Parts: sequence; C-alpha cells; structure tokens
Amino acid sequence: MPNQEPLVFSSADFRSAMRNVPGAVSIVTTGQRPGRHGLTLTAGCSLSTEPSRVLVCVNKSAGAHDTIEQGAAFCWNILAAEHASLAKSFAGQDGSKGDMRFADGLWRELATGSPVLADAICAFDCRVCDSYDAGSHTIFIGEVVAQATSADREPLVYVQGEFTVPRR
Ligand SMILES: Cc1cc2nc3c(=O)[nH]c(=O)nc-3n(C[C@H](O)[C@H](O)[C@H](O)COP(=O)(O)O)c2cc1C
Repeated sequence: MPNQEPLVFSSADFRSAMRNVPGAVSIVTTGQRPGRHGLTLTAGCSLSTEPSRVLVCVNKSAGAHDTIEQGAAFCWNILAAEHASLAKSFAGQDGSKGDMRFADGLWRELATGSPVLADAICAFDCRVCDSYDAGSHTIFIGEVVAQATSADREPLVYVQGEFTVPRR
C-alpha cells in the first residue's frame, strides 16, 4: 500500500539526496544493426545466481525501451574508467541517437545478437524472462545466456553528477 502520510520532502530533495549515492555505470544495449539502441544506466543489479539473472530499470521514453520489449533481449555492459565518453554519448549528452552511438567502441555479439562492448569489465547477454510496470520505468528481468569478462580494471562510477573512479 502506498504511504498516505503527507511527504515532508520534495522530489527535488529526493533527487538531491540521490546525487550522493554512487552508481556503477553501465550501458544497456539491444537490437541489431542498423536498428541498435543503447542507454547509459545505473539502475541495474544482479538479481539471483541460480538461475543467473539481472534486472535493469529502463525509462519508457528511452529509445531502447520498445526494442528490449519487442525483441525480449538486452546486453548489460559494465563500464570501466576509460569509458566515460561512451557513457556520456549513450546518455545523449553529445546529441547522438540510436545506431549512431555505436560509432565509438568495439562492438560484437554473443548469443542474443544484442551489442556487446568488447572491453567492458563484464557483459551479460540476456533474454528477458519477466518485466514489471513501474510507472515511468519498466523493470526488465534478464536471464543471462552468455557473458564475457575483462576483470582487474577500474570501474566507472557516477556520483554527485560526475563520472569518476572509486578511491582505493
Ligand atoms: C549516470 C546516468 C545514469 C542513468 N541511469 C539511467 C537508468 O538507470 N535508467 C534509465 O532509463 N535512464 C538512465 N539514464 C538516462 C539515459 O541514459 C538517457 O535518458 C538516455 O539518453 C536515454 O536514451 P535515448 O536518448 O535513446 O532515449 C542515466 C543517465 C546518466 C547520465
């Protein structure tokens, strides 16, 4: 049941608090050339190991949303420190859209045909096994059908409005 008590903070307060929460930066990709789509995403995590599942929260207005839904597949690419400019591009900060965003980076495919970033820290190629309507977003549950790792690299993190690398 939603809380009926009046809120003592605004959505701007919530947004401001959330700026302090570090997020692992990823790119969720879907579709096949020339209809590839992708977006920068921090609302993703591991869901279970048996079976191997992840979840990603995708805004319904995102270019990739309907292709994930219709194709029932996506790849969750976890970014390294050197991928900051790719993260900005896939967040639309350079004005690029759709397939144009794949001009930079080395892209390949695994099982589903969704674009896999060759030098991602990890890439989880998924078939959508469930999805949930969450207002502005859809929560897609992905069953991992193939994966690639290139570990021992610095992860890219987003905190206080900046792409950064965690301090050791
Ligand atoms: C650091 C960062 C994290 C983001 N996380 C998400 C996210 O978890 N889910 C989401 O739907 N959009 C997220 N976005 C916004 C999308 O990347 C952005 O709206 C993108 O332009 C959508 O793709 P489109 O231009 O093809 O619609 C994030 C943006 C940034 C910069």
